[in-house]
Amino acid sequence: MRIATPRLLLRDTRAEDIPALIALWTDAEVTRYMGGPRRPAHLREAFEQTLAQGPDRYDLYPVIEVASGTVVGHCGLLDKEIEGALEIELVYVLARPCWGRGYATEIARAIAQDAFTRQGLRRLVALIEPGNVASERVAAKVGMELEREVLRPGGHLMRLYALNA
Ligand SMILES: CC(C)(COP(=O)(O)OP(=O)(O)OC[C@H]1O[C@@H](n2cnc3c(N)ncnc32)[C@H](O)[C@@H]1OP(=O)(O)O)[C@@H](O)C(=O)NCCC(=O)NCCS
Repeated sequence: MRIATPRLLLRDTRAEDIPALIALWTDAEVTRYMGGPRRPAHLREAFEQTLAQGPDRYDLYPVIEVASGTVVGHCGLLDKEIEGALEIELVYVLARPCWGRGYATEIARAIAQDAFTRQGLRRLVALIEPGNVASERVAAKVGMELEREVLRPGGHLMRLYALNA
């Protein structure tokens, strides 16, 4: 996988990305609306499995800031069952120091473009927890529209944004 934008590069996971990805998914602010911080050992195992087996058909990839060469995010597509239907979710997670520069919008637009053109997908969704205003702004700037609210396992109410080709 390789998606380049003017400032960012999304590419396959490498061993040297793992510390930055673990830092991202153990950050309490970053994961505030995404189920909270994950356990480092669990993350390391999952990333090492990705290195060994390659990515799933729909997966998240490290996002590199071209200017610095550092990992600034973990973004991509995930397949998810939502109220009995199989959907493809557009997921964007950025490191805190990089928030507010338009990075999420830039990479999310490029991922959606790749999904609709190269991969031939017809629809993408974003599941957003109420209160995650920045994420809703990104979804709107990518062209997604609020479709409905859905109940997730565990009884969490989430907003379902969708973009149809
Ligand atoms: C959501 C997230 C990806 C946004 O990344 P980003 O690179 O800062 O996003 P962008 O700069 O492209 O756009 C953010 C937009 O939200 C707005 N915004 C940011 N924080 C906000 C807040 N607290 N209230 C209202 N708007 C806010 C920004 O002003 C901007 O909108 P604008 O361009 O109209 O001004 C980032 O905050 C993040 O990684 N959060 C944690 C992970 C997460 O929740 N991901 C989404 C899962 S559904």
